[in-house]
Amino acid sequence: MRRGFLGGTFNPPHLGHVQAAAEAAKELELDALYLIPAGIPPHKELPEGGATGEQRLEMTRLAFDGIPGLQVLDWELRRKGKSYTADTVEALRTEDPEGELWMLCGTDMFETLPDWRRGDWLMRTLRVAPYPRKAGEEERIDALAEAYRREFGTTIRRIGVQPLEVSSTSLRVLLRKGKGAALLPKEVYRFILKNRLYDVRPEPDALWELARPWYKKSRIPHVLGCRETAVNLAERWGADTLDAENAAILHDITKKMPVEEQLQYCEKRGNINFSYRPEYEEALHAFSGAAAAALEFGVSPEVESAVRWHTTGRADMSLLEKIIWLADYIEPNRTTPGVDEIRRLAESDLDEALRRALESSLRHLEENGRTPHPATREALAFLCRGEVDS
Ligand SMILES: [Fe+2]
Ligand SMILES: [Fe+2]
Repeated sequence: MRRGFLGGTFNPPHLGHVQAAAEAAKELELDALYLIPAGIPPHKELPEGGATGEQRLEMTRLAFDGIPGLQVLDWELRRKGKSYTADTVEALRTEDPEGELWMLCGTDMFETLPDWRRGDWLMRTLRVAPYPRKAGEEERIDALAEAYRREFGTTIRRIGVQPLEVSSTSLRVLLRKGKGAALLPKEVYRFILKNRLYDVRPEPDALWELARPWYKKSRIPHVLGCRETAVNLAERWGADTLDAENAAILHDITKKMPVEEQLQYCEKRGNINFSYRPEYEEALHAFSGAAAAALEFGVSPEVESAVRWHTTGRADMSLLEKIIWLADYIEPNRTTPGVDEIRRLAESDLDEALRRALESSLRHLEENGRTPHPATREALAFLCRGEVDS
């Protein structure tokens, strides 16, 4: 058997890992390639508040899913104490003592190989397949390979992968800023969002890609209109544009979901604070949408709250809540009578725009014989600084 393995913390695994692994499997014609997330790595401390071992294992499974011959092994995570490659190599060799065993590694690891625990033994036992992590590292790799060959007789073959200049460390920084999604396999990004790893903030384009299948086709222009309007309003009024964009993308996410399922989301999140009544069905999608936004896409409490109150409004709304409520009301596809005036007002006086829109919305409900949600009256009353009229 010709087998290979790639170890690492995979915190998180990214496309640089995936591309190198896929290319190595092809070039070396491997029968099997193992991905082995490290338990406690000897080289570095794991950052606090990051992913657990189980989560790194799961992300590694998701990252390499579907590549033929690839298998994720949890040995190093199960092993007590620090992870040493030598122990893993021993275990792999026991399985197939006569076969070829290749170790894949990036330039940085390749440079320090002889210094690892039982480095001398590793250099004489393994075949090594280094790959560049940055453009222009090829020469450095080849020079080292020559030196290793002379000193240890190691068989070395550089993998000809185009380096993707990314590290897990720099990715974690990007994720906190609402960037970096394009450097991750889609399912890994989804997992990171869902579990709110690395203090991630959703990147709007990537979030939209994940959220889009939740929407009916006919609703998409409205959501996109709302997204654009929310960003404009956030810029105009000094709100967080990333939060505004993400809240708009998710605001109607459960609109096509059956009521039963929506109620399940609310229950899971524990966010229904009104006894559900059929006449408030319109408000239900806001509550269940907020629950789904938090549970599926890991949004911040601010974004969750903006989604939650986007239909009813409420007393003492946050700036973001006001923006999402209004964006939903005035986005370019809306043709409600009087909407142009409210659009203009939203540029000059946000509260006045909201007050007018709330009034108009209440009037519309009443004209149609529907019961407004109490929170809508409270929102208006708060803005008018009057009492809730019952
Ligand atoms: Fe809505
Ligand atoms: Fe909407």
